[in-house]
Amino acid sequence: MLADRSAERVKRAHSQSQEIRVPQRLAAQLEQFKVDLDRVTSEEALYDLQVAYLGKKGSITALKAEMGKIPPADRKAFGAAWNSARDSIDAALATRRQFLKDEARRRDLARRVDLTMPPLRPPPGTLHPLAQTRRRLSESFMRLGFDVAVGPHVESGRYNFDDLNMPSDHPARDMADTFFVSPPAGREGDELVLRTHTSPVQVRTMRSQTPPIRIIAPGTTFRRDDDATHSPMFHQIEGLYVDRGVTMADLKATLMAFTADFFGQALEVRLRPSFFPFVEPGAEFDLACPFCSQRGCNLCKHTGFIELGGCGMVHPAVFEACGVDSERYTGWAFGFGIDRMAMMLHQVPHLRLMFEGDVRFLEQFPC
Ligand code: PHE
Repeated sequence: MLADRSAERVKRAHSQSQEIRVPQRLAAQLEQFKVDLDRVTSEEALYDLQVAYLGKKGSITALKAEMGKIPPADRKAFGAAWNSARDSIDAALATRRQFLKDEARRRDLARRVDLTMPPLRPPPGTLHPLAQTRRRLSESFMRLGFDVAVGPHVESGRYNFDDLNMPSDHPARDMADTFFVSPPAGREGDELVLRTHTSPVQVRTMRSQTPPIRIIAPGTTFRRDDDATHSPMFHQIEGLYVDRGVTMADLKATLMAFTADFFGQALEVRLRPSFFPFVEPGAEFDLACPFCSQRGCNLCKHTGFIELGGCGMVHPAVFEACGVDSERYTGWAFGFGIDRMAMMLHQVPHLRLMFEGDVRFLEQFPC
């Protein structure tokens, strides 16, 4: 019984101290709020402050729930004090919010914008090493008076083979060598191929222009080859010169002038008899190795010469097919690989690197 009574006393004393403390805690919270408010520098922080004091679980909100601990006689006064605390917090928050907004706007307006400043550009890309080589090759030939001609990648069997004196039983027309393309509906009879060389541009040019003709045709070509030095997609550059009295001597002189311009040094050009159906006589042409002055290196496989491509005098049958009078005109043509030239120039060990699109490789070729 005695113990009970003392427990009761302790409890009462405790709740009395609570009663006393509630209004004081309200005043203390208000003071703390003012301190906190002064530190707020952003609207987000201001919102957090509002939640901390007046939100559902806010400290001021919590005090209202403790109203029951206050003696009934004092409750009205506490209620009024609570309301005025809440109102003053609300008003202070609103004032501060407006101030922060104004401040942000002021800062924005005070910002100096220099419209003459050059913009921060993303770093420009560079041309692909093959594109760079193709351009350099074209420029050398343009300086010699050649125009640049182009043709489609999907070519007719006629322009790619027949008109170039490669009949239907020619081995290059084998499925194993050439990508054949299904013709569109309504043109089922057409033979379409991914061009296997740039030579069909010769045909297209001779069909549409009258001599004198002096063109080069750089571009993408396709064959069913795939190993360390061959890719199913590769690049060639074709040359064609048709006029009266054009000879093999012009061919050799042009190839020499081109190499002198391209490599910046006079290099011996060697023609070796060879066969291509669309030229007669035909030859393969080699270049004295520009990398070792013919002393022998890896690039020329220690032969002193680099094999470049094929060439020869345009076959009369090709002139015939293209409507050029072979009694009146003669001409020569050549073709060689751009990829191999680029690999040599930059000492690139694998053709694959050229087509993988790896930035770490490509950025080594700033143009
Ligand atoms: N078109 C031949 C090839 O792709 C190269 C060539 C072009 C040969 C012109 C002679 C004349 O191998």
